[in-house]
Amino acid sequence: MKFETQKIAYWFFATCMLLFTLQIVFGFVMGFAHMGLDGLHEIIPFNAARASHNNLLVVWMLTGFMGAAHYIIPEETGREIHSTKLAYIQLISLILVGVTAIIGFHMNWWEGRKFLEIPRPLDYLVVVNVLMFIYNIGMTIIKGKKTTTSLVLFFGLLMAALLYLPGLITTDSQTMDSYWRWWVVHLWVEGVWELIMGAILSYLLIKLTGVDREIIEKWLYIIVGITFLSGILGTGHHYYYIGTPKYWLLIGGIFSALEPLAFLGICIYAIVMAKKGDRQHPNKLALTWTIGCSVMSFCGAGFLGFAHTLPQVNLWTHGTLVTAMHGHMAFWGAYGMLIFAIICYAMPNLTGRNRMNTAASTFAYWATTIGMVAMTVAFGIAGIAQVYLERKMGMDFMQVQTELEIHFLGLVLAAALFTLGFLAYVYEFIKSGTPLKDISVGDKKYV
Ligand code: HEM
Ligand code: HEM
Ligand SMILES: [Fe+2]
Repeated sequence: MKFETQKIAYWFFATCMLLFTLQIVFGFVMGFAHMGLDGLHEIIPFNAARASHNNLLVVWMLTGFMGAAHYIIPEETGREIHSTKLAYIQLISLILVGVTAIIGFHMNWWEGRKFLEIPRPLDYLVVVNVLMFIYNIGMTIIKGKKTTTSLVLFFGLLMAALLYLPGLITTDSQTMDSYWRWWVVHLWVEGVWELIMGAILSYLLIKLTGVDREIIEKWLYIIVGITFLSGILGTGHHYYYIGTPKYWLLIGGIFSALEPLAFLGICIYAIVMAKKGDRQHPNKLALTWTIGCSVMSFCGAGFLGFAHTLPQVNLWTHGTLVTAMHGHMAFWGAYGMLIFAIICYAMPNLTGRNRMNTAASTFAYWATTIGMVAMTVAFGIAGIAQVYLERKMGMDFMQVQTELEIHFLGLVLAAALFTLGFLAYVYEFIKSGTPLKDISVGDKKYV
């Protein structure tokens, strides 16, 4: 660690681990409820568990991106973060808003609208909070050196903040409400979050492979280009049958079918750079997480996204467990593994202790990876059965849910393996300790 303010990243990462733990708890509550074991229903009804699971996911990922920014930006700009105090105020207020939202969901204080369930007054607080973050990082970049990696990272974060606003447009029309909701949800995960992903991967590859910055950043431009070309009009794959004009069937179908190219590009980029690089970096596991992220995101987002993106398929699969199958692997592969990669890279530098080559940390990688593949298979089989029984044969929704209960035993077992891996990661995170007091003592060899 070269800069004092990089330590801020540690507290964002620690918050990430805590919120992710809570997300998993709600996941199990739903997994058991799907098996017919819904004993907690009075305290945690399914809708509250689902809203909490989804929102904790978004908040821990944003916290992870913010932590990554606090770690990366000082190095890229060659200066300390603009205001340490503002960074901590922002983190604490983000946690307070998040916790209030989760408690609110359990008291039926929510807006519906998957992923945007947070009630309106809290939305405004989120906006103020994120603006604080953008200001702090923006000021650091303005005053410092400007690299492609840091500018793409900043642009991605800024656009993610701005794209939260369409979700606040109030309308009485269900169609219009869905229309704007997708500006947030789709343009985040299949648009600007991909820029954040490209930039963090670029930083990691520069550090871990030793390949020239010019070469790595040239690829970054190509990926940004393909992402925008396909992802913006690709939003149309959510407008097929919601009451919007018919032309979306064609536009959405064609452009969203091109979206996997961006993920394929990222995948080839990471693998080629790792092969090309001659640097024997001691933090091998950080490179494994980096490559793993690029491959898994192609499988989950690119391949499984394509699986239900054509209107002829989506007509049948929309809103079923097929969506959950894709949602899990895409989110984990693209953004979960990315955050785990940057934490794995940063921790030895932050704390001066390298716990990233232990048996537990290797187990963490493989158990989460295999666990998530198995969870995807379980959701996929349940989803296909659901489509045939409910939509092709016309069976009643709740009757189908009963038929599917047994599939959730498989899901819970797979999720247990994933969780064991996650706990091993948390164990190593805790064992690494807190950031070094004197940064000059740090073990330089992991930088
Ligand atoms: C490890 C334990 C986990 C379990 C048991 C679990 C289980 C579940 C269940 C049962 C649902 C609800 C499906 C439905 O609507 O009926 C769900 C939704 C969801 N989960 Fe998880 N989950 C876990 C971890 C994760 C992780 C690690 C991620 C992402 C990184 C994730 C992302 C999601 C998303 C995005 C949805 C919404 C899916 C949709 O839009 O249909 N979950 N989860
Ligand atoms: C990392 C990138 C991605 C993530 C995290 C992601 C995650 C998700 C999630 C959570 C949903 C459910 C949203 C909701 O119902 O509110 C969803 C829906 C969908 N995704 Fe993705 N996705 C990604 C990339 C892609 C790509 C590249 C494609 C197409 C090639 C795609 C195709 C779809 C489709 C068609 C739906 C709608 C499913 C339905 O109608 O129920 N996704 N995605
Ligand atoms: Fe989408």
